[in-house]
Amino acid sequence: MNKLFHIVTYGCQMNVHESEKIAGILSGLGYESCDDMESADIVVFNTCCIRENAENHAYGNIGMLKKLKAANKNMIIAVGGCLPQQMNKAENLHEKFPYVDIIFGTHNLSKLRDYIIEKQTRKKPIIRIDEREGEICENEKPLRTSYPNAWVNIMYGCNNFCSYCIVPYVRGRERSRKSENIIAEVRQLVSEGYREITLLGQNVNSYGNGTDDITFPELLSKICEIDGKFRIRFMTSHPKDFSEELAKAMSQSDKICHLLHLPVQSGSDRILRAMNRRYTSSDYLRKVDILKKYIPDCEITTDLIVGFPGETEEDFNATLDLVKRVDFSSAFTFVYSRREGTKAATMPDQIPEDVSKRRIMQLVDLVNAQTRAHSAKFVGKTTEILCEDYDEKRGLYLGRNEYGRMGYFKSECDERGNFVNLKINQANGVSLFGDKV
Ligand code: 5AD
Ligand code: SF4
Repeated sequence: MNKLFHIVTYGCQMNVHESEKIAGILSGLGYESCDDMESADIVVFNTCCIRENAENHAYGNIGMLKKLKAANKNMIIAVGGCLPQQMNKAENLHEKFPYVDIIFGTHNLSKLRDYIIEKQTRKKPIIRIDEREGEICENEKPLRTSYPNAWVNIMYGCNNFCSYCIVPYVRGRERSRKSENIIAEVRQLVSEGYREITLLGQNVNSYGNGTDDITFPELLSKICEIDGKFRIRFMTSHPKDFSEELAKAMSQSDKICHLLHLPVQSGSDRILRAMNRRYTSSDYLRKVDILKKYIPDCEITTDLIVGFPGETEEDFNATLDLVKRVDFSSAFTFVYSRREGTKAATMPDQIPEDVSKRRIMQLVDLVNAQTRAHSAKFVGKTTEILCEDYDEKRGLYLGRNEYGRMGYFKSECDERGNFVNLKINQANGVSLFGDKV
């Protein structure tokens, strides 16, 4: 019988895709995926440290494995990703959880194969954190888990150093994959039947910077030339780098979804400056106008932070105003989390928890109302969704339309991987319900 692995993923889409790469490495070693930790011969925690609660969540789960490891001494436990990549965190992890066998960082994920082989003949834990970014590894074959959707990294790292953010410290400087490799990967995925490709990078707009390769809008156009019916999404775009050229490229192919994730973080110019975002709220609104000029029906989603150090009631109201002005189709809302090592962590005037809590609740109410209104727009209309799954509990198939709304419907045949037109008769939050037409 093959040995089994189980991966626990924390954080964003980027990490979900990295777990697919880890799964690829483990299956290359002859392991098979399983759904629970109890049966696994190897458990990997792919961690995130962007906010304190993601980090605490991982600590809690790793702690719970102590008993399992005591019962099964041969089990290999590995902890990787952003958490151990932070200064001194690998050592802390080892002290706290001495039964963890392998601790590795973001820059040495591709060496996990060697660490597992080494661990089979070594008693002591393996703790390897590379400080410098390694070469981009092109020969990892991810074990994809989200058919008909596929994620493709186009670049790694971030140079922006927003003052609240730990990412540049744990993911290193920006480096882009060669466009020919990205295009070849997308072509291969489309030929294998994948129908939605999401291009990933911390700041996709600076793709190719510092190289003589093509720009991001050019890359998009080249990917659109690949034959076949498929959708393209991308994330994340930094507003300071969002260009008219990109809006134009987005409008020139019906393969590109009419949805842009453009994190604004705050509506207050004073806070945006302290966050080192390098745009003002009016710059942001101008970019939105440019986008709408080329794609009038484009939906916009965003990320928002409340409780950044020094945020006054006036600053917070400016965020509410901006959210109303842009009318986001949905938004991720976060309470500022102090991350050791970032510039904002040393700023005076950290906001008390009760103030942040009240602000986030107010913001969430506003965002939810906008989300519902955007969903309601689809009622009575026909929208095309790409079916991704079957919900056993509801007895309904589900998939997203190009604007990112989830649509549910009944069907007698297996619809997974099909584009289906739905006549929407009900909307509920971010979900739409309709009949196949
Ligand atoms: N606290 C709260 N939210 C944060 N984000 C990044 N760092 C922090 C932090 N320290 C949010 C930003 C970013 C998203 C991925 O996570 O909104 O766009
Ligand atoms: Fe963090 Fe800013 Fe880079 Fe996004 S652009 S990863 S928020 S530093």
